[in-house]
Amino acid sequence: MVLMKSDRLVPAALITLTLVPVGAGAVRLAGLAGGAEITPDNARFFASPLPAVLHIVGATLFCIMGAFQFAPALRRGNPGWHRRGGWLLIASGLVATLSGLWMTQFYSRAWNDGDLLYGLRLTFGWAMAVSIVLGFVAIKRRDVVRHRAWIMRAYAIGMGAGTQAIIHLPWFLVAGVPGELARGLLMGAG
Ligand code: HEM
Repeated sequence: MVLMKSDRLVPAALITLTLVPVGAGAVRLAGLAGGAEITPDNARFFASPLPAVLHIVGATLFCIMGAFQFAPALRRGNPGWHRRGGWLLIASGLVATLSGLWMTQFYSRAWNDGDLLYGLRLTFGWAMAVSIVLGFVAIKRRDVVRHRAWIMRAYAIGMGAGTQAIIHLPWFLVAGVPGELARGLLMGAG
């Protein structure tokens, strides 16, 4: 199998985009496992840790494994690998988004989480779940064009976690922690 430049660049760029949320997830998992001090900011994660753990593990697998599915040589040169990785991606993506929807519905809200962010999470969380299922149904029908389109939509929604981090950074530096409206708009832009 001959690897082209794009076979390395595309996964590397996608993984770089997810470094902040994946790193934040690792810090949260370490805090939950190591019994970090409970504060008003993190109490909801300690009160019900399972969805957060599932969410972080599922999203991390989905983002990292998914990046390699975009390398043409790996996909075409090793279809068995693409298929096995695909099963893991479907499972991890569904775990990530369904646990995210669970937290949206049942976690107490952070002080700057408002109705706008709630609506965005419901919309994009369900859109990601539906896109994964439609991508799976398409490949079972051997419809590669639709499969690619739906899986790319699902992955793009997941990548929103990375673009949200980039979009928040200048706001943090200039104006500090965003309030309810600004946070909803920044998350929506991501
Ligand atoms: C697949 C890419 C995603 C990644 C990498 C990701 C990453 C994370 C991380 C690291 C946390 C923990 C934040 C913290 O510790 O403060 C988190 C929380 C959360 N995520 Fe995701 N997420 C992803 C997708 C989604 C989606 C699609 C939804 C939509 C339903 C979602 C909804 C949530 C919610 C509601 C929380 C809890 C927020 C809170 O109460 O502070 N996530 N996510």
